[in-house]
Amino acid sequence: MNGLAGRTAIVTGGARGIGEVYVRALHAEGARVVIADVLAGEGKALADELEGSRFCELDVSDEAAWDAAVAATLDAFGAVDVLVNNAGIANAAPIEHFTLAKWNAVIAVNLTGTFLGCRAVVPAMKAAGRGSIVNVSSVEGLRGSERLHGYTASKFGVRGLTKSLAVELGPDGVRVNSVHPGFVRTGMTTRIDPARLQIPLGRPGAPGDLAGAVVFLAGDASAYVTGAEIVVDGGMTA
Ligand code: NAI
Repeated sequence: MNGLAGRTAIVTGGARGIGEVYVRALHAEGARVVIADVLAGEGKALADELEGSRFCELDVSDEAAWDAAVAATLDAFGAVDVLVNNAGIANAAPIEHFTLAKWNAVIAVNLTGTFLGCRAVVPAMKAAGRGSIVNVSSVEGLRGSERLHGYTASKFGVRGLTKSLAVELGPDGVRVNSVHPGFVRTGMTTRIDPARLQIPLGRPGAPGDLAGAVVFLAGDASAYVTGAEIVVDGGMTA
């Protein structure tokens, strides 16, 4: 076990896609999981299936909603031990056609949402003297790709935020790390043809390929790891 039994974990964007796999993996480790998402139908159904978990309707870009989500989690479980900032969106266009609306939308969810989530859980984690925040960045937080300007900026931002928080919160026993998935077939990536990607391990990632990194960073096996980035991309960025 990884010290996660009885711990409380919030997973944003946990209702579907890779986030759902994080929810299932943390639950399998014995954690009490709060599935925080804008998708109420899928989120509630998943919470009903996984005993001891809860659904919380949350738009991660909504500051007040974060306060309510953390208060509800503390009411229900008395702690927030782990936060996985996984909710994300993507959009793409050549720079001349990259509208301000597109830019604002992707920054609001991916970067501001991650900032708000970290800020909302820190008081409880500091009071407990421990906590683990796992921020989901991307290979696009490590390199550039055409047309993904807002997404890339947001994911580099998530990586940078992770580092500054790791430095600030280390003395309080709160660890902050990032995970960088490569290509995974989900609702977000339906328009990408994996045959065009160079993946040394020879296949696209499956959501389950990411679970080990998140469970590792969430639990005690990574007790001396903070400010780190774990790249899970089949070698795409090697
Ligand atoms: P997805 O589109 O399948 O799932 C995203 C989840 O986030 C959904 O449940 C959605 O409802 C939720 N969400 C979106 N906006 C939200 C908001 N404002 N508030 C709360 N929840 C919100 O996407 P996928 O592929 O599972 O992505 C998960 C994370 O992994 C994202 O941060 C994405 O950027 C990242 N990622 C995905 C890769 C891929 O190849 N699929 C590659 C690298 C990173």
